[in-house]
Parts: sequence; C-alpha cells; structure tokens
Amino acid sequence: MKLVKLIANLGYGSRRDVTAMFREGRITDPDGEVLYADDKVPHADIHVDGEPLDPPPGLVIAMHKPVGYTCSTRDPSRLVYDLLPPRFRSRNPLLSTVGRLDRDTSGLLLFTDDGQLLHRIISPKASVPKVYEAELAEDLRGDEAVLFAAGTLLLDGETTPLVPAKLDVLGPRQARVAVTEGRYHQVRRMFAATGNAVIALQRSAVGGLRLDDLGLDAGEWRALSADEIARVFGTGG
Ligand code: URA
Repeated sequence: MKLVKLIANLGYGSRRDVTAMFREGRITDPDGEVLYADDKVPHADIHVDGEPLDPPPGLVIAMHKPVGYTCSTRDPSRLVYDLLPPRFRSRNPLLSTVGRLDRDTSGLLLFTDDGQLLHRIISPKASVPKVYEAELAEDLRGDEAVLFAAGTLLLDGETTPLVPAKLDVLGPRQARVAVTEGRYHQVRRMFAATGNAVIALQRSAVGGLRLDDLGLDAGEWRALSADEIARVFGTGG
C-alpha cells in the first residue's frame, strides 16, 4: 500500500493532509531522515513528527476503563474514545470496543479493528468468559451460584434464559461472576433477579487476559502483543 494511503488510513489526516505532511518533512525514518511518499519502508521505520507511526490494522488495545465513561462514539457524556489519541477515531478499518461496559462499570475494555477477532471474543458460542467483580448492596443469599449455573435464569423482560454463569463468593457482599454472554446490564440484572443490587462493578478479565497483569491504572491503555491477545483465548495460567 502506498505510504500516503497507509498513513491516512491510520487517522493522521486526509490523503491531501498526509501529502502535505510529507512535503513539510514531518514523516521521517527513526534517524530523522525525511521520507518521500513513494519510498518503500517497513511500517516500523516510519515516524511522524518524531514519533513511531501507530500500529497497523490488526490492532488490539487494552484499556483500564474508569467509571464515568461511555462505550460509544457519539454521546453527550465522556467517551472511552476521549482517552485515546483523537486520530484513533478516524482509523480505517474502524477501531471498535469489543462489547461494551456500562458507564458505571470500570475495568478491562478491549478495542480492535479486526472484526473476526471481535466476533470470536464476544460471540456467546465462543464461550470466552468475561469476569466481573461485584460489590453488592446486600449480603449474598447463598443460592446465587446454583441459580446462575442453572442455565434457567430469566432476566426481567426477557424470554430466553441465560446460559450458565459461574459465581465465586469473595465476601458477604462481594462476588466474582464469569459470563459468556453480553446482554444489556447483564451482571447488574442477574443480581437484581436475586433481590440484590450491584453498587460497584469491575471487569477483571477477558478470557485468560487479566487486568491486574497489564499494569494499567484507571484511564490508561496500551496496544497488546500477540502473546497477550492469545491469552484472551487461553486460561491465563
Ligand atoms: N454487566 C453489567 O451489568 N454491566 C457491564 O458493564 C457489564 C456486564
């Protein structure tokens, strides 16, 4: 692919903008030597304004989503995209969130521009567990694990029961829940079905990829390596 198109597709500007950037000498190799639009150079050897070019398509980003941000590209409230460089919103192919977390849920949020990968993570058939730690308003009753594992739990207003989910008790008002579906407000509604309420919810893992292993504080993000992406589909050890 021609350099102008490659760089424009990464959201740095229109092809006309990127052509101007070449003319202005803003696109260089790692030693600062100016590159020209018809040069043939590996992706890793391209710098823009002295910074390495963003990763090519196939990008997967992990973010530690803070509470108060919405997983949407258009919403009057603060958006998870506001935490990324603005050009990431103009990439082609588009960078989407892998499923959604509620505005009031924090934790591990993935983004990718790889539609097949996204589907493999969110499809209930793929059975990649999404793990949440919930703090509850009331003490657990004691039968939640059995209820969630039964495969018969109906959420309010729905007609298809949830597939079995795993609950581990972490304390009288604390639980870890692993679900493979991604229904609207699912974990909050599962506890609502038991007469309880979630007062804080954090996603701690997607498959074998654990937030705690990524070294990200709330609001931070980074691109994942191939090994880290593979962990989504493994047990995480
Ligand atoms: N379940 C919820 O209730 N909220 C989320 O953000 C994710 C799962």
